[in-house]
Amino acid sequence: MKTVHVPASAPYDVLIGPGLLSSLGSRVRDLCPKAGRYLLVTDDNVGPLWADACVKSLDAAGLAGDAYTLPHGEASKTAQSLVEILNFAAERRLTRSDMFIALGGGMTGDLTGFAAATYMRGVDYIQIPTTLLAAIDSSVGGKTAVDLPAGKNLMGAFWQPRLVLCDTETLSTLPETDFASGCAEVIKTAILFDEPLFAQLEREGRDFDREALIARCVEHKRDVVAEDEFDTGRRALLNLGHTLGHAVEAESGFALTHGQAVAVGTAVVCRAAAQYGVCPPDLPARVDALLEKFGLPIRTAYPLDILLERMLSDKKRAGAAVNVIVPEAIGRCGIRPMDRQALYDFMKAGL
Ligand SMILES: NC(=O)c1ccc[n+]([C@@H]2O[C@H](COP(=O)([O-])OP(=O)(O)OC[C@H]3O[C@@H](n4cnc5c(N)ncnc54)[C@H](O)[C@@H]3O)[C@@H](O)[C@H]2O)c1
Ligand SMILES: [Zn+2]
Repeated sequence: MKTVHVPASAPYDVLIGPGLLSSLGSRVRDLCPKAGRYLLVTDDNVGPLWADACVKSLDAAGLAGDAYTLPHGEASKTAQSLVEILNFAAERRLTRSDMFIALGGGMTGDLTGFAAATYMRGVDYIQIPTTLLAAIDSSVGGKTAVDLPAGKNLMGAFWQPRLVLCDTETLSTLPETDFASGCAEVIKTAILFDEPLFAQLEREGRDFDREALIARCVEHKRDVVAEDEFDTGRRALLNLGHTLGHAVEAESGFALTHGQAVAVGTAVVCRAAAQYGVCPPDLPARVDALLEKFGLPIRTAYPLDILLERMLSDKKRAGAAVNVIVPEAIGRCGIRPMDRQALYDFMKAGL
């Protein structure tokens, strides 16, 4: 097992390794001795596979509770689901000393975290990520949210979990597309912070040691979060590939997964950076080859003027400028504000 400590305003550990679900109950007891009941939130793919192991462990530790199961998919990450979860908790008389547990991917984690942030002005929660994306990205850092009709993650809060329990065995049931989607965020992390990791992925492909790789990516995320918990500066780096990625994801009507869209976005900014002479000329070819090795797309056929409107309406724009994360080398990226024309020209250079 590997442990990564996150020194946020409310510090916590991320535990990574096989078989950790069986230790859930005793860990909840240690961390939250006052917790009498729990609410375990999951989706209808993950629940049937992994909820029993959690409930068994919680039972053995003398903890009683209920499970709430959502339909899987981003369509469940809504204000309506949030209210349903809060009602469910209230009807079962959960108190402020009880706790929420998120068992699933980023959809479940973001939604449950936000429910925990708002139930009785905030209760403890535990993240149990079951996708690669959730393990290396969404379960760490305390960003919680639901989507609004106007866009993704528009309603949310910063609310750190008490514990992240990443049982690597849960990844064994993850469908191939979702695994590849998580790999896009792994490659993103390597381009941002870690040339040796990038080179390792080039050598090993997907035969990587999952426990070690997740721990390494979580350490990078931890470092960014520790420096900029509330996303006013450096944390923006994590949006590498996301400005165009979010636009492509939305334009596909979410037929492309988040990771597939981020892969396209990352490939485009890398090619653009090389065209602008900001990064070494061979960088885009390395990135394209690695993404393709992981079965990820590197191009989009959507017209740039349509994608541009979507990029400009993304909540991440600051005033008139959009902050674009631009690779300068494998392992180092910069943040560049771009106005409408600059954004158009830059993306056009990379398409
Ligand atoms: N909070 C953050 O910092 C942050 C960061 C990145 C992404 N996100 C959010 O994360 C979400 C995407 O996360 P995701 O890709 O994990 O999506 P997801 O939760 O929808 O999971 C993807 C699919 O995999 C299934 N699944 C999950 N674990 C499984 C398992 N072990 N076995 C079988 N099936 C399994 C799910 O049912 C779902 O169908 C988005 O809502 C995004 O906005 C949040
Ligand atoms: Zn992402």
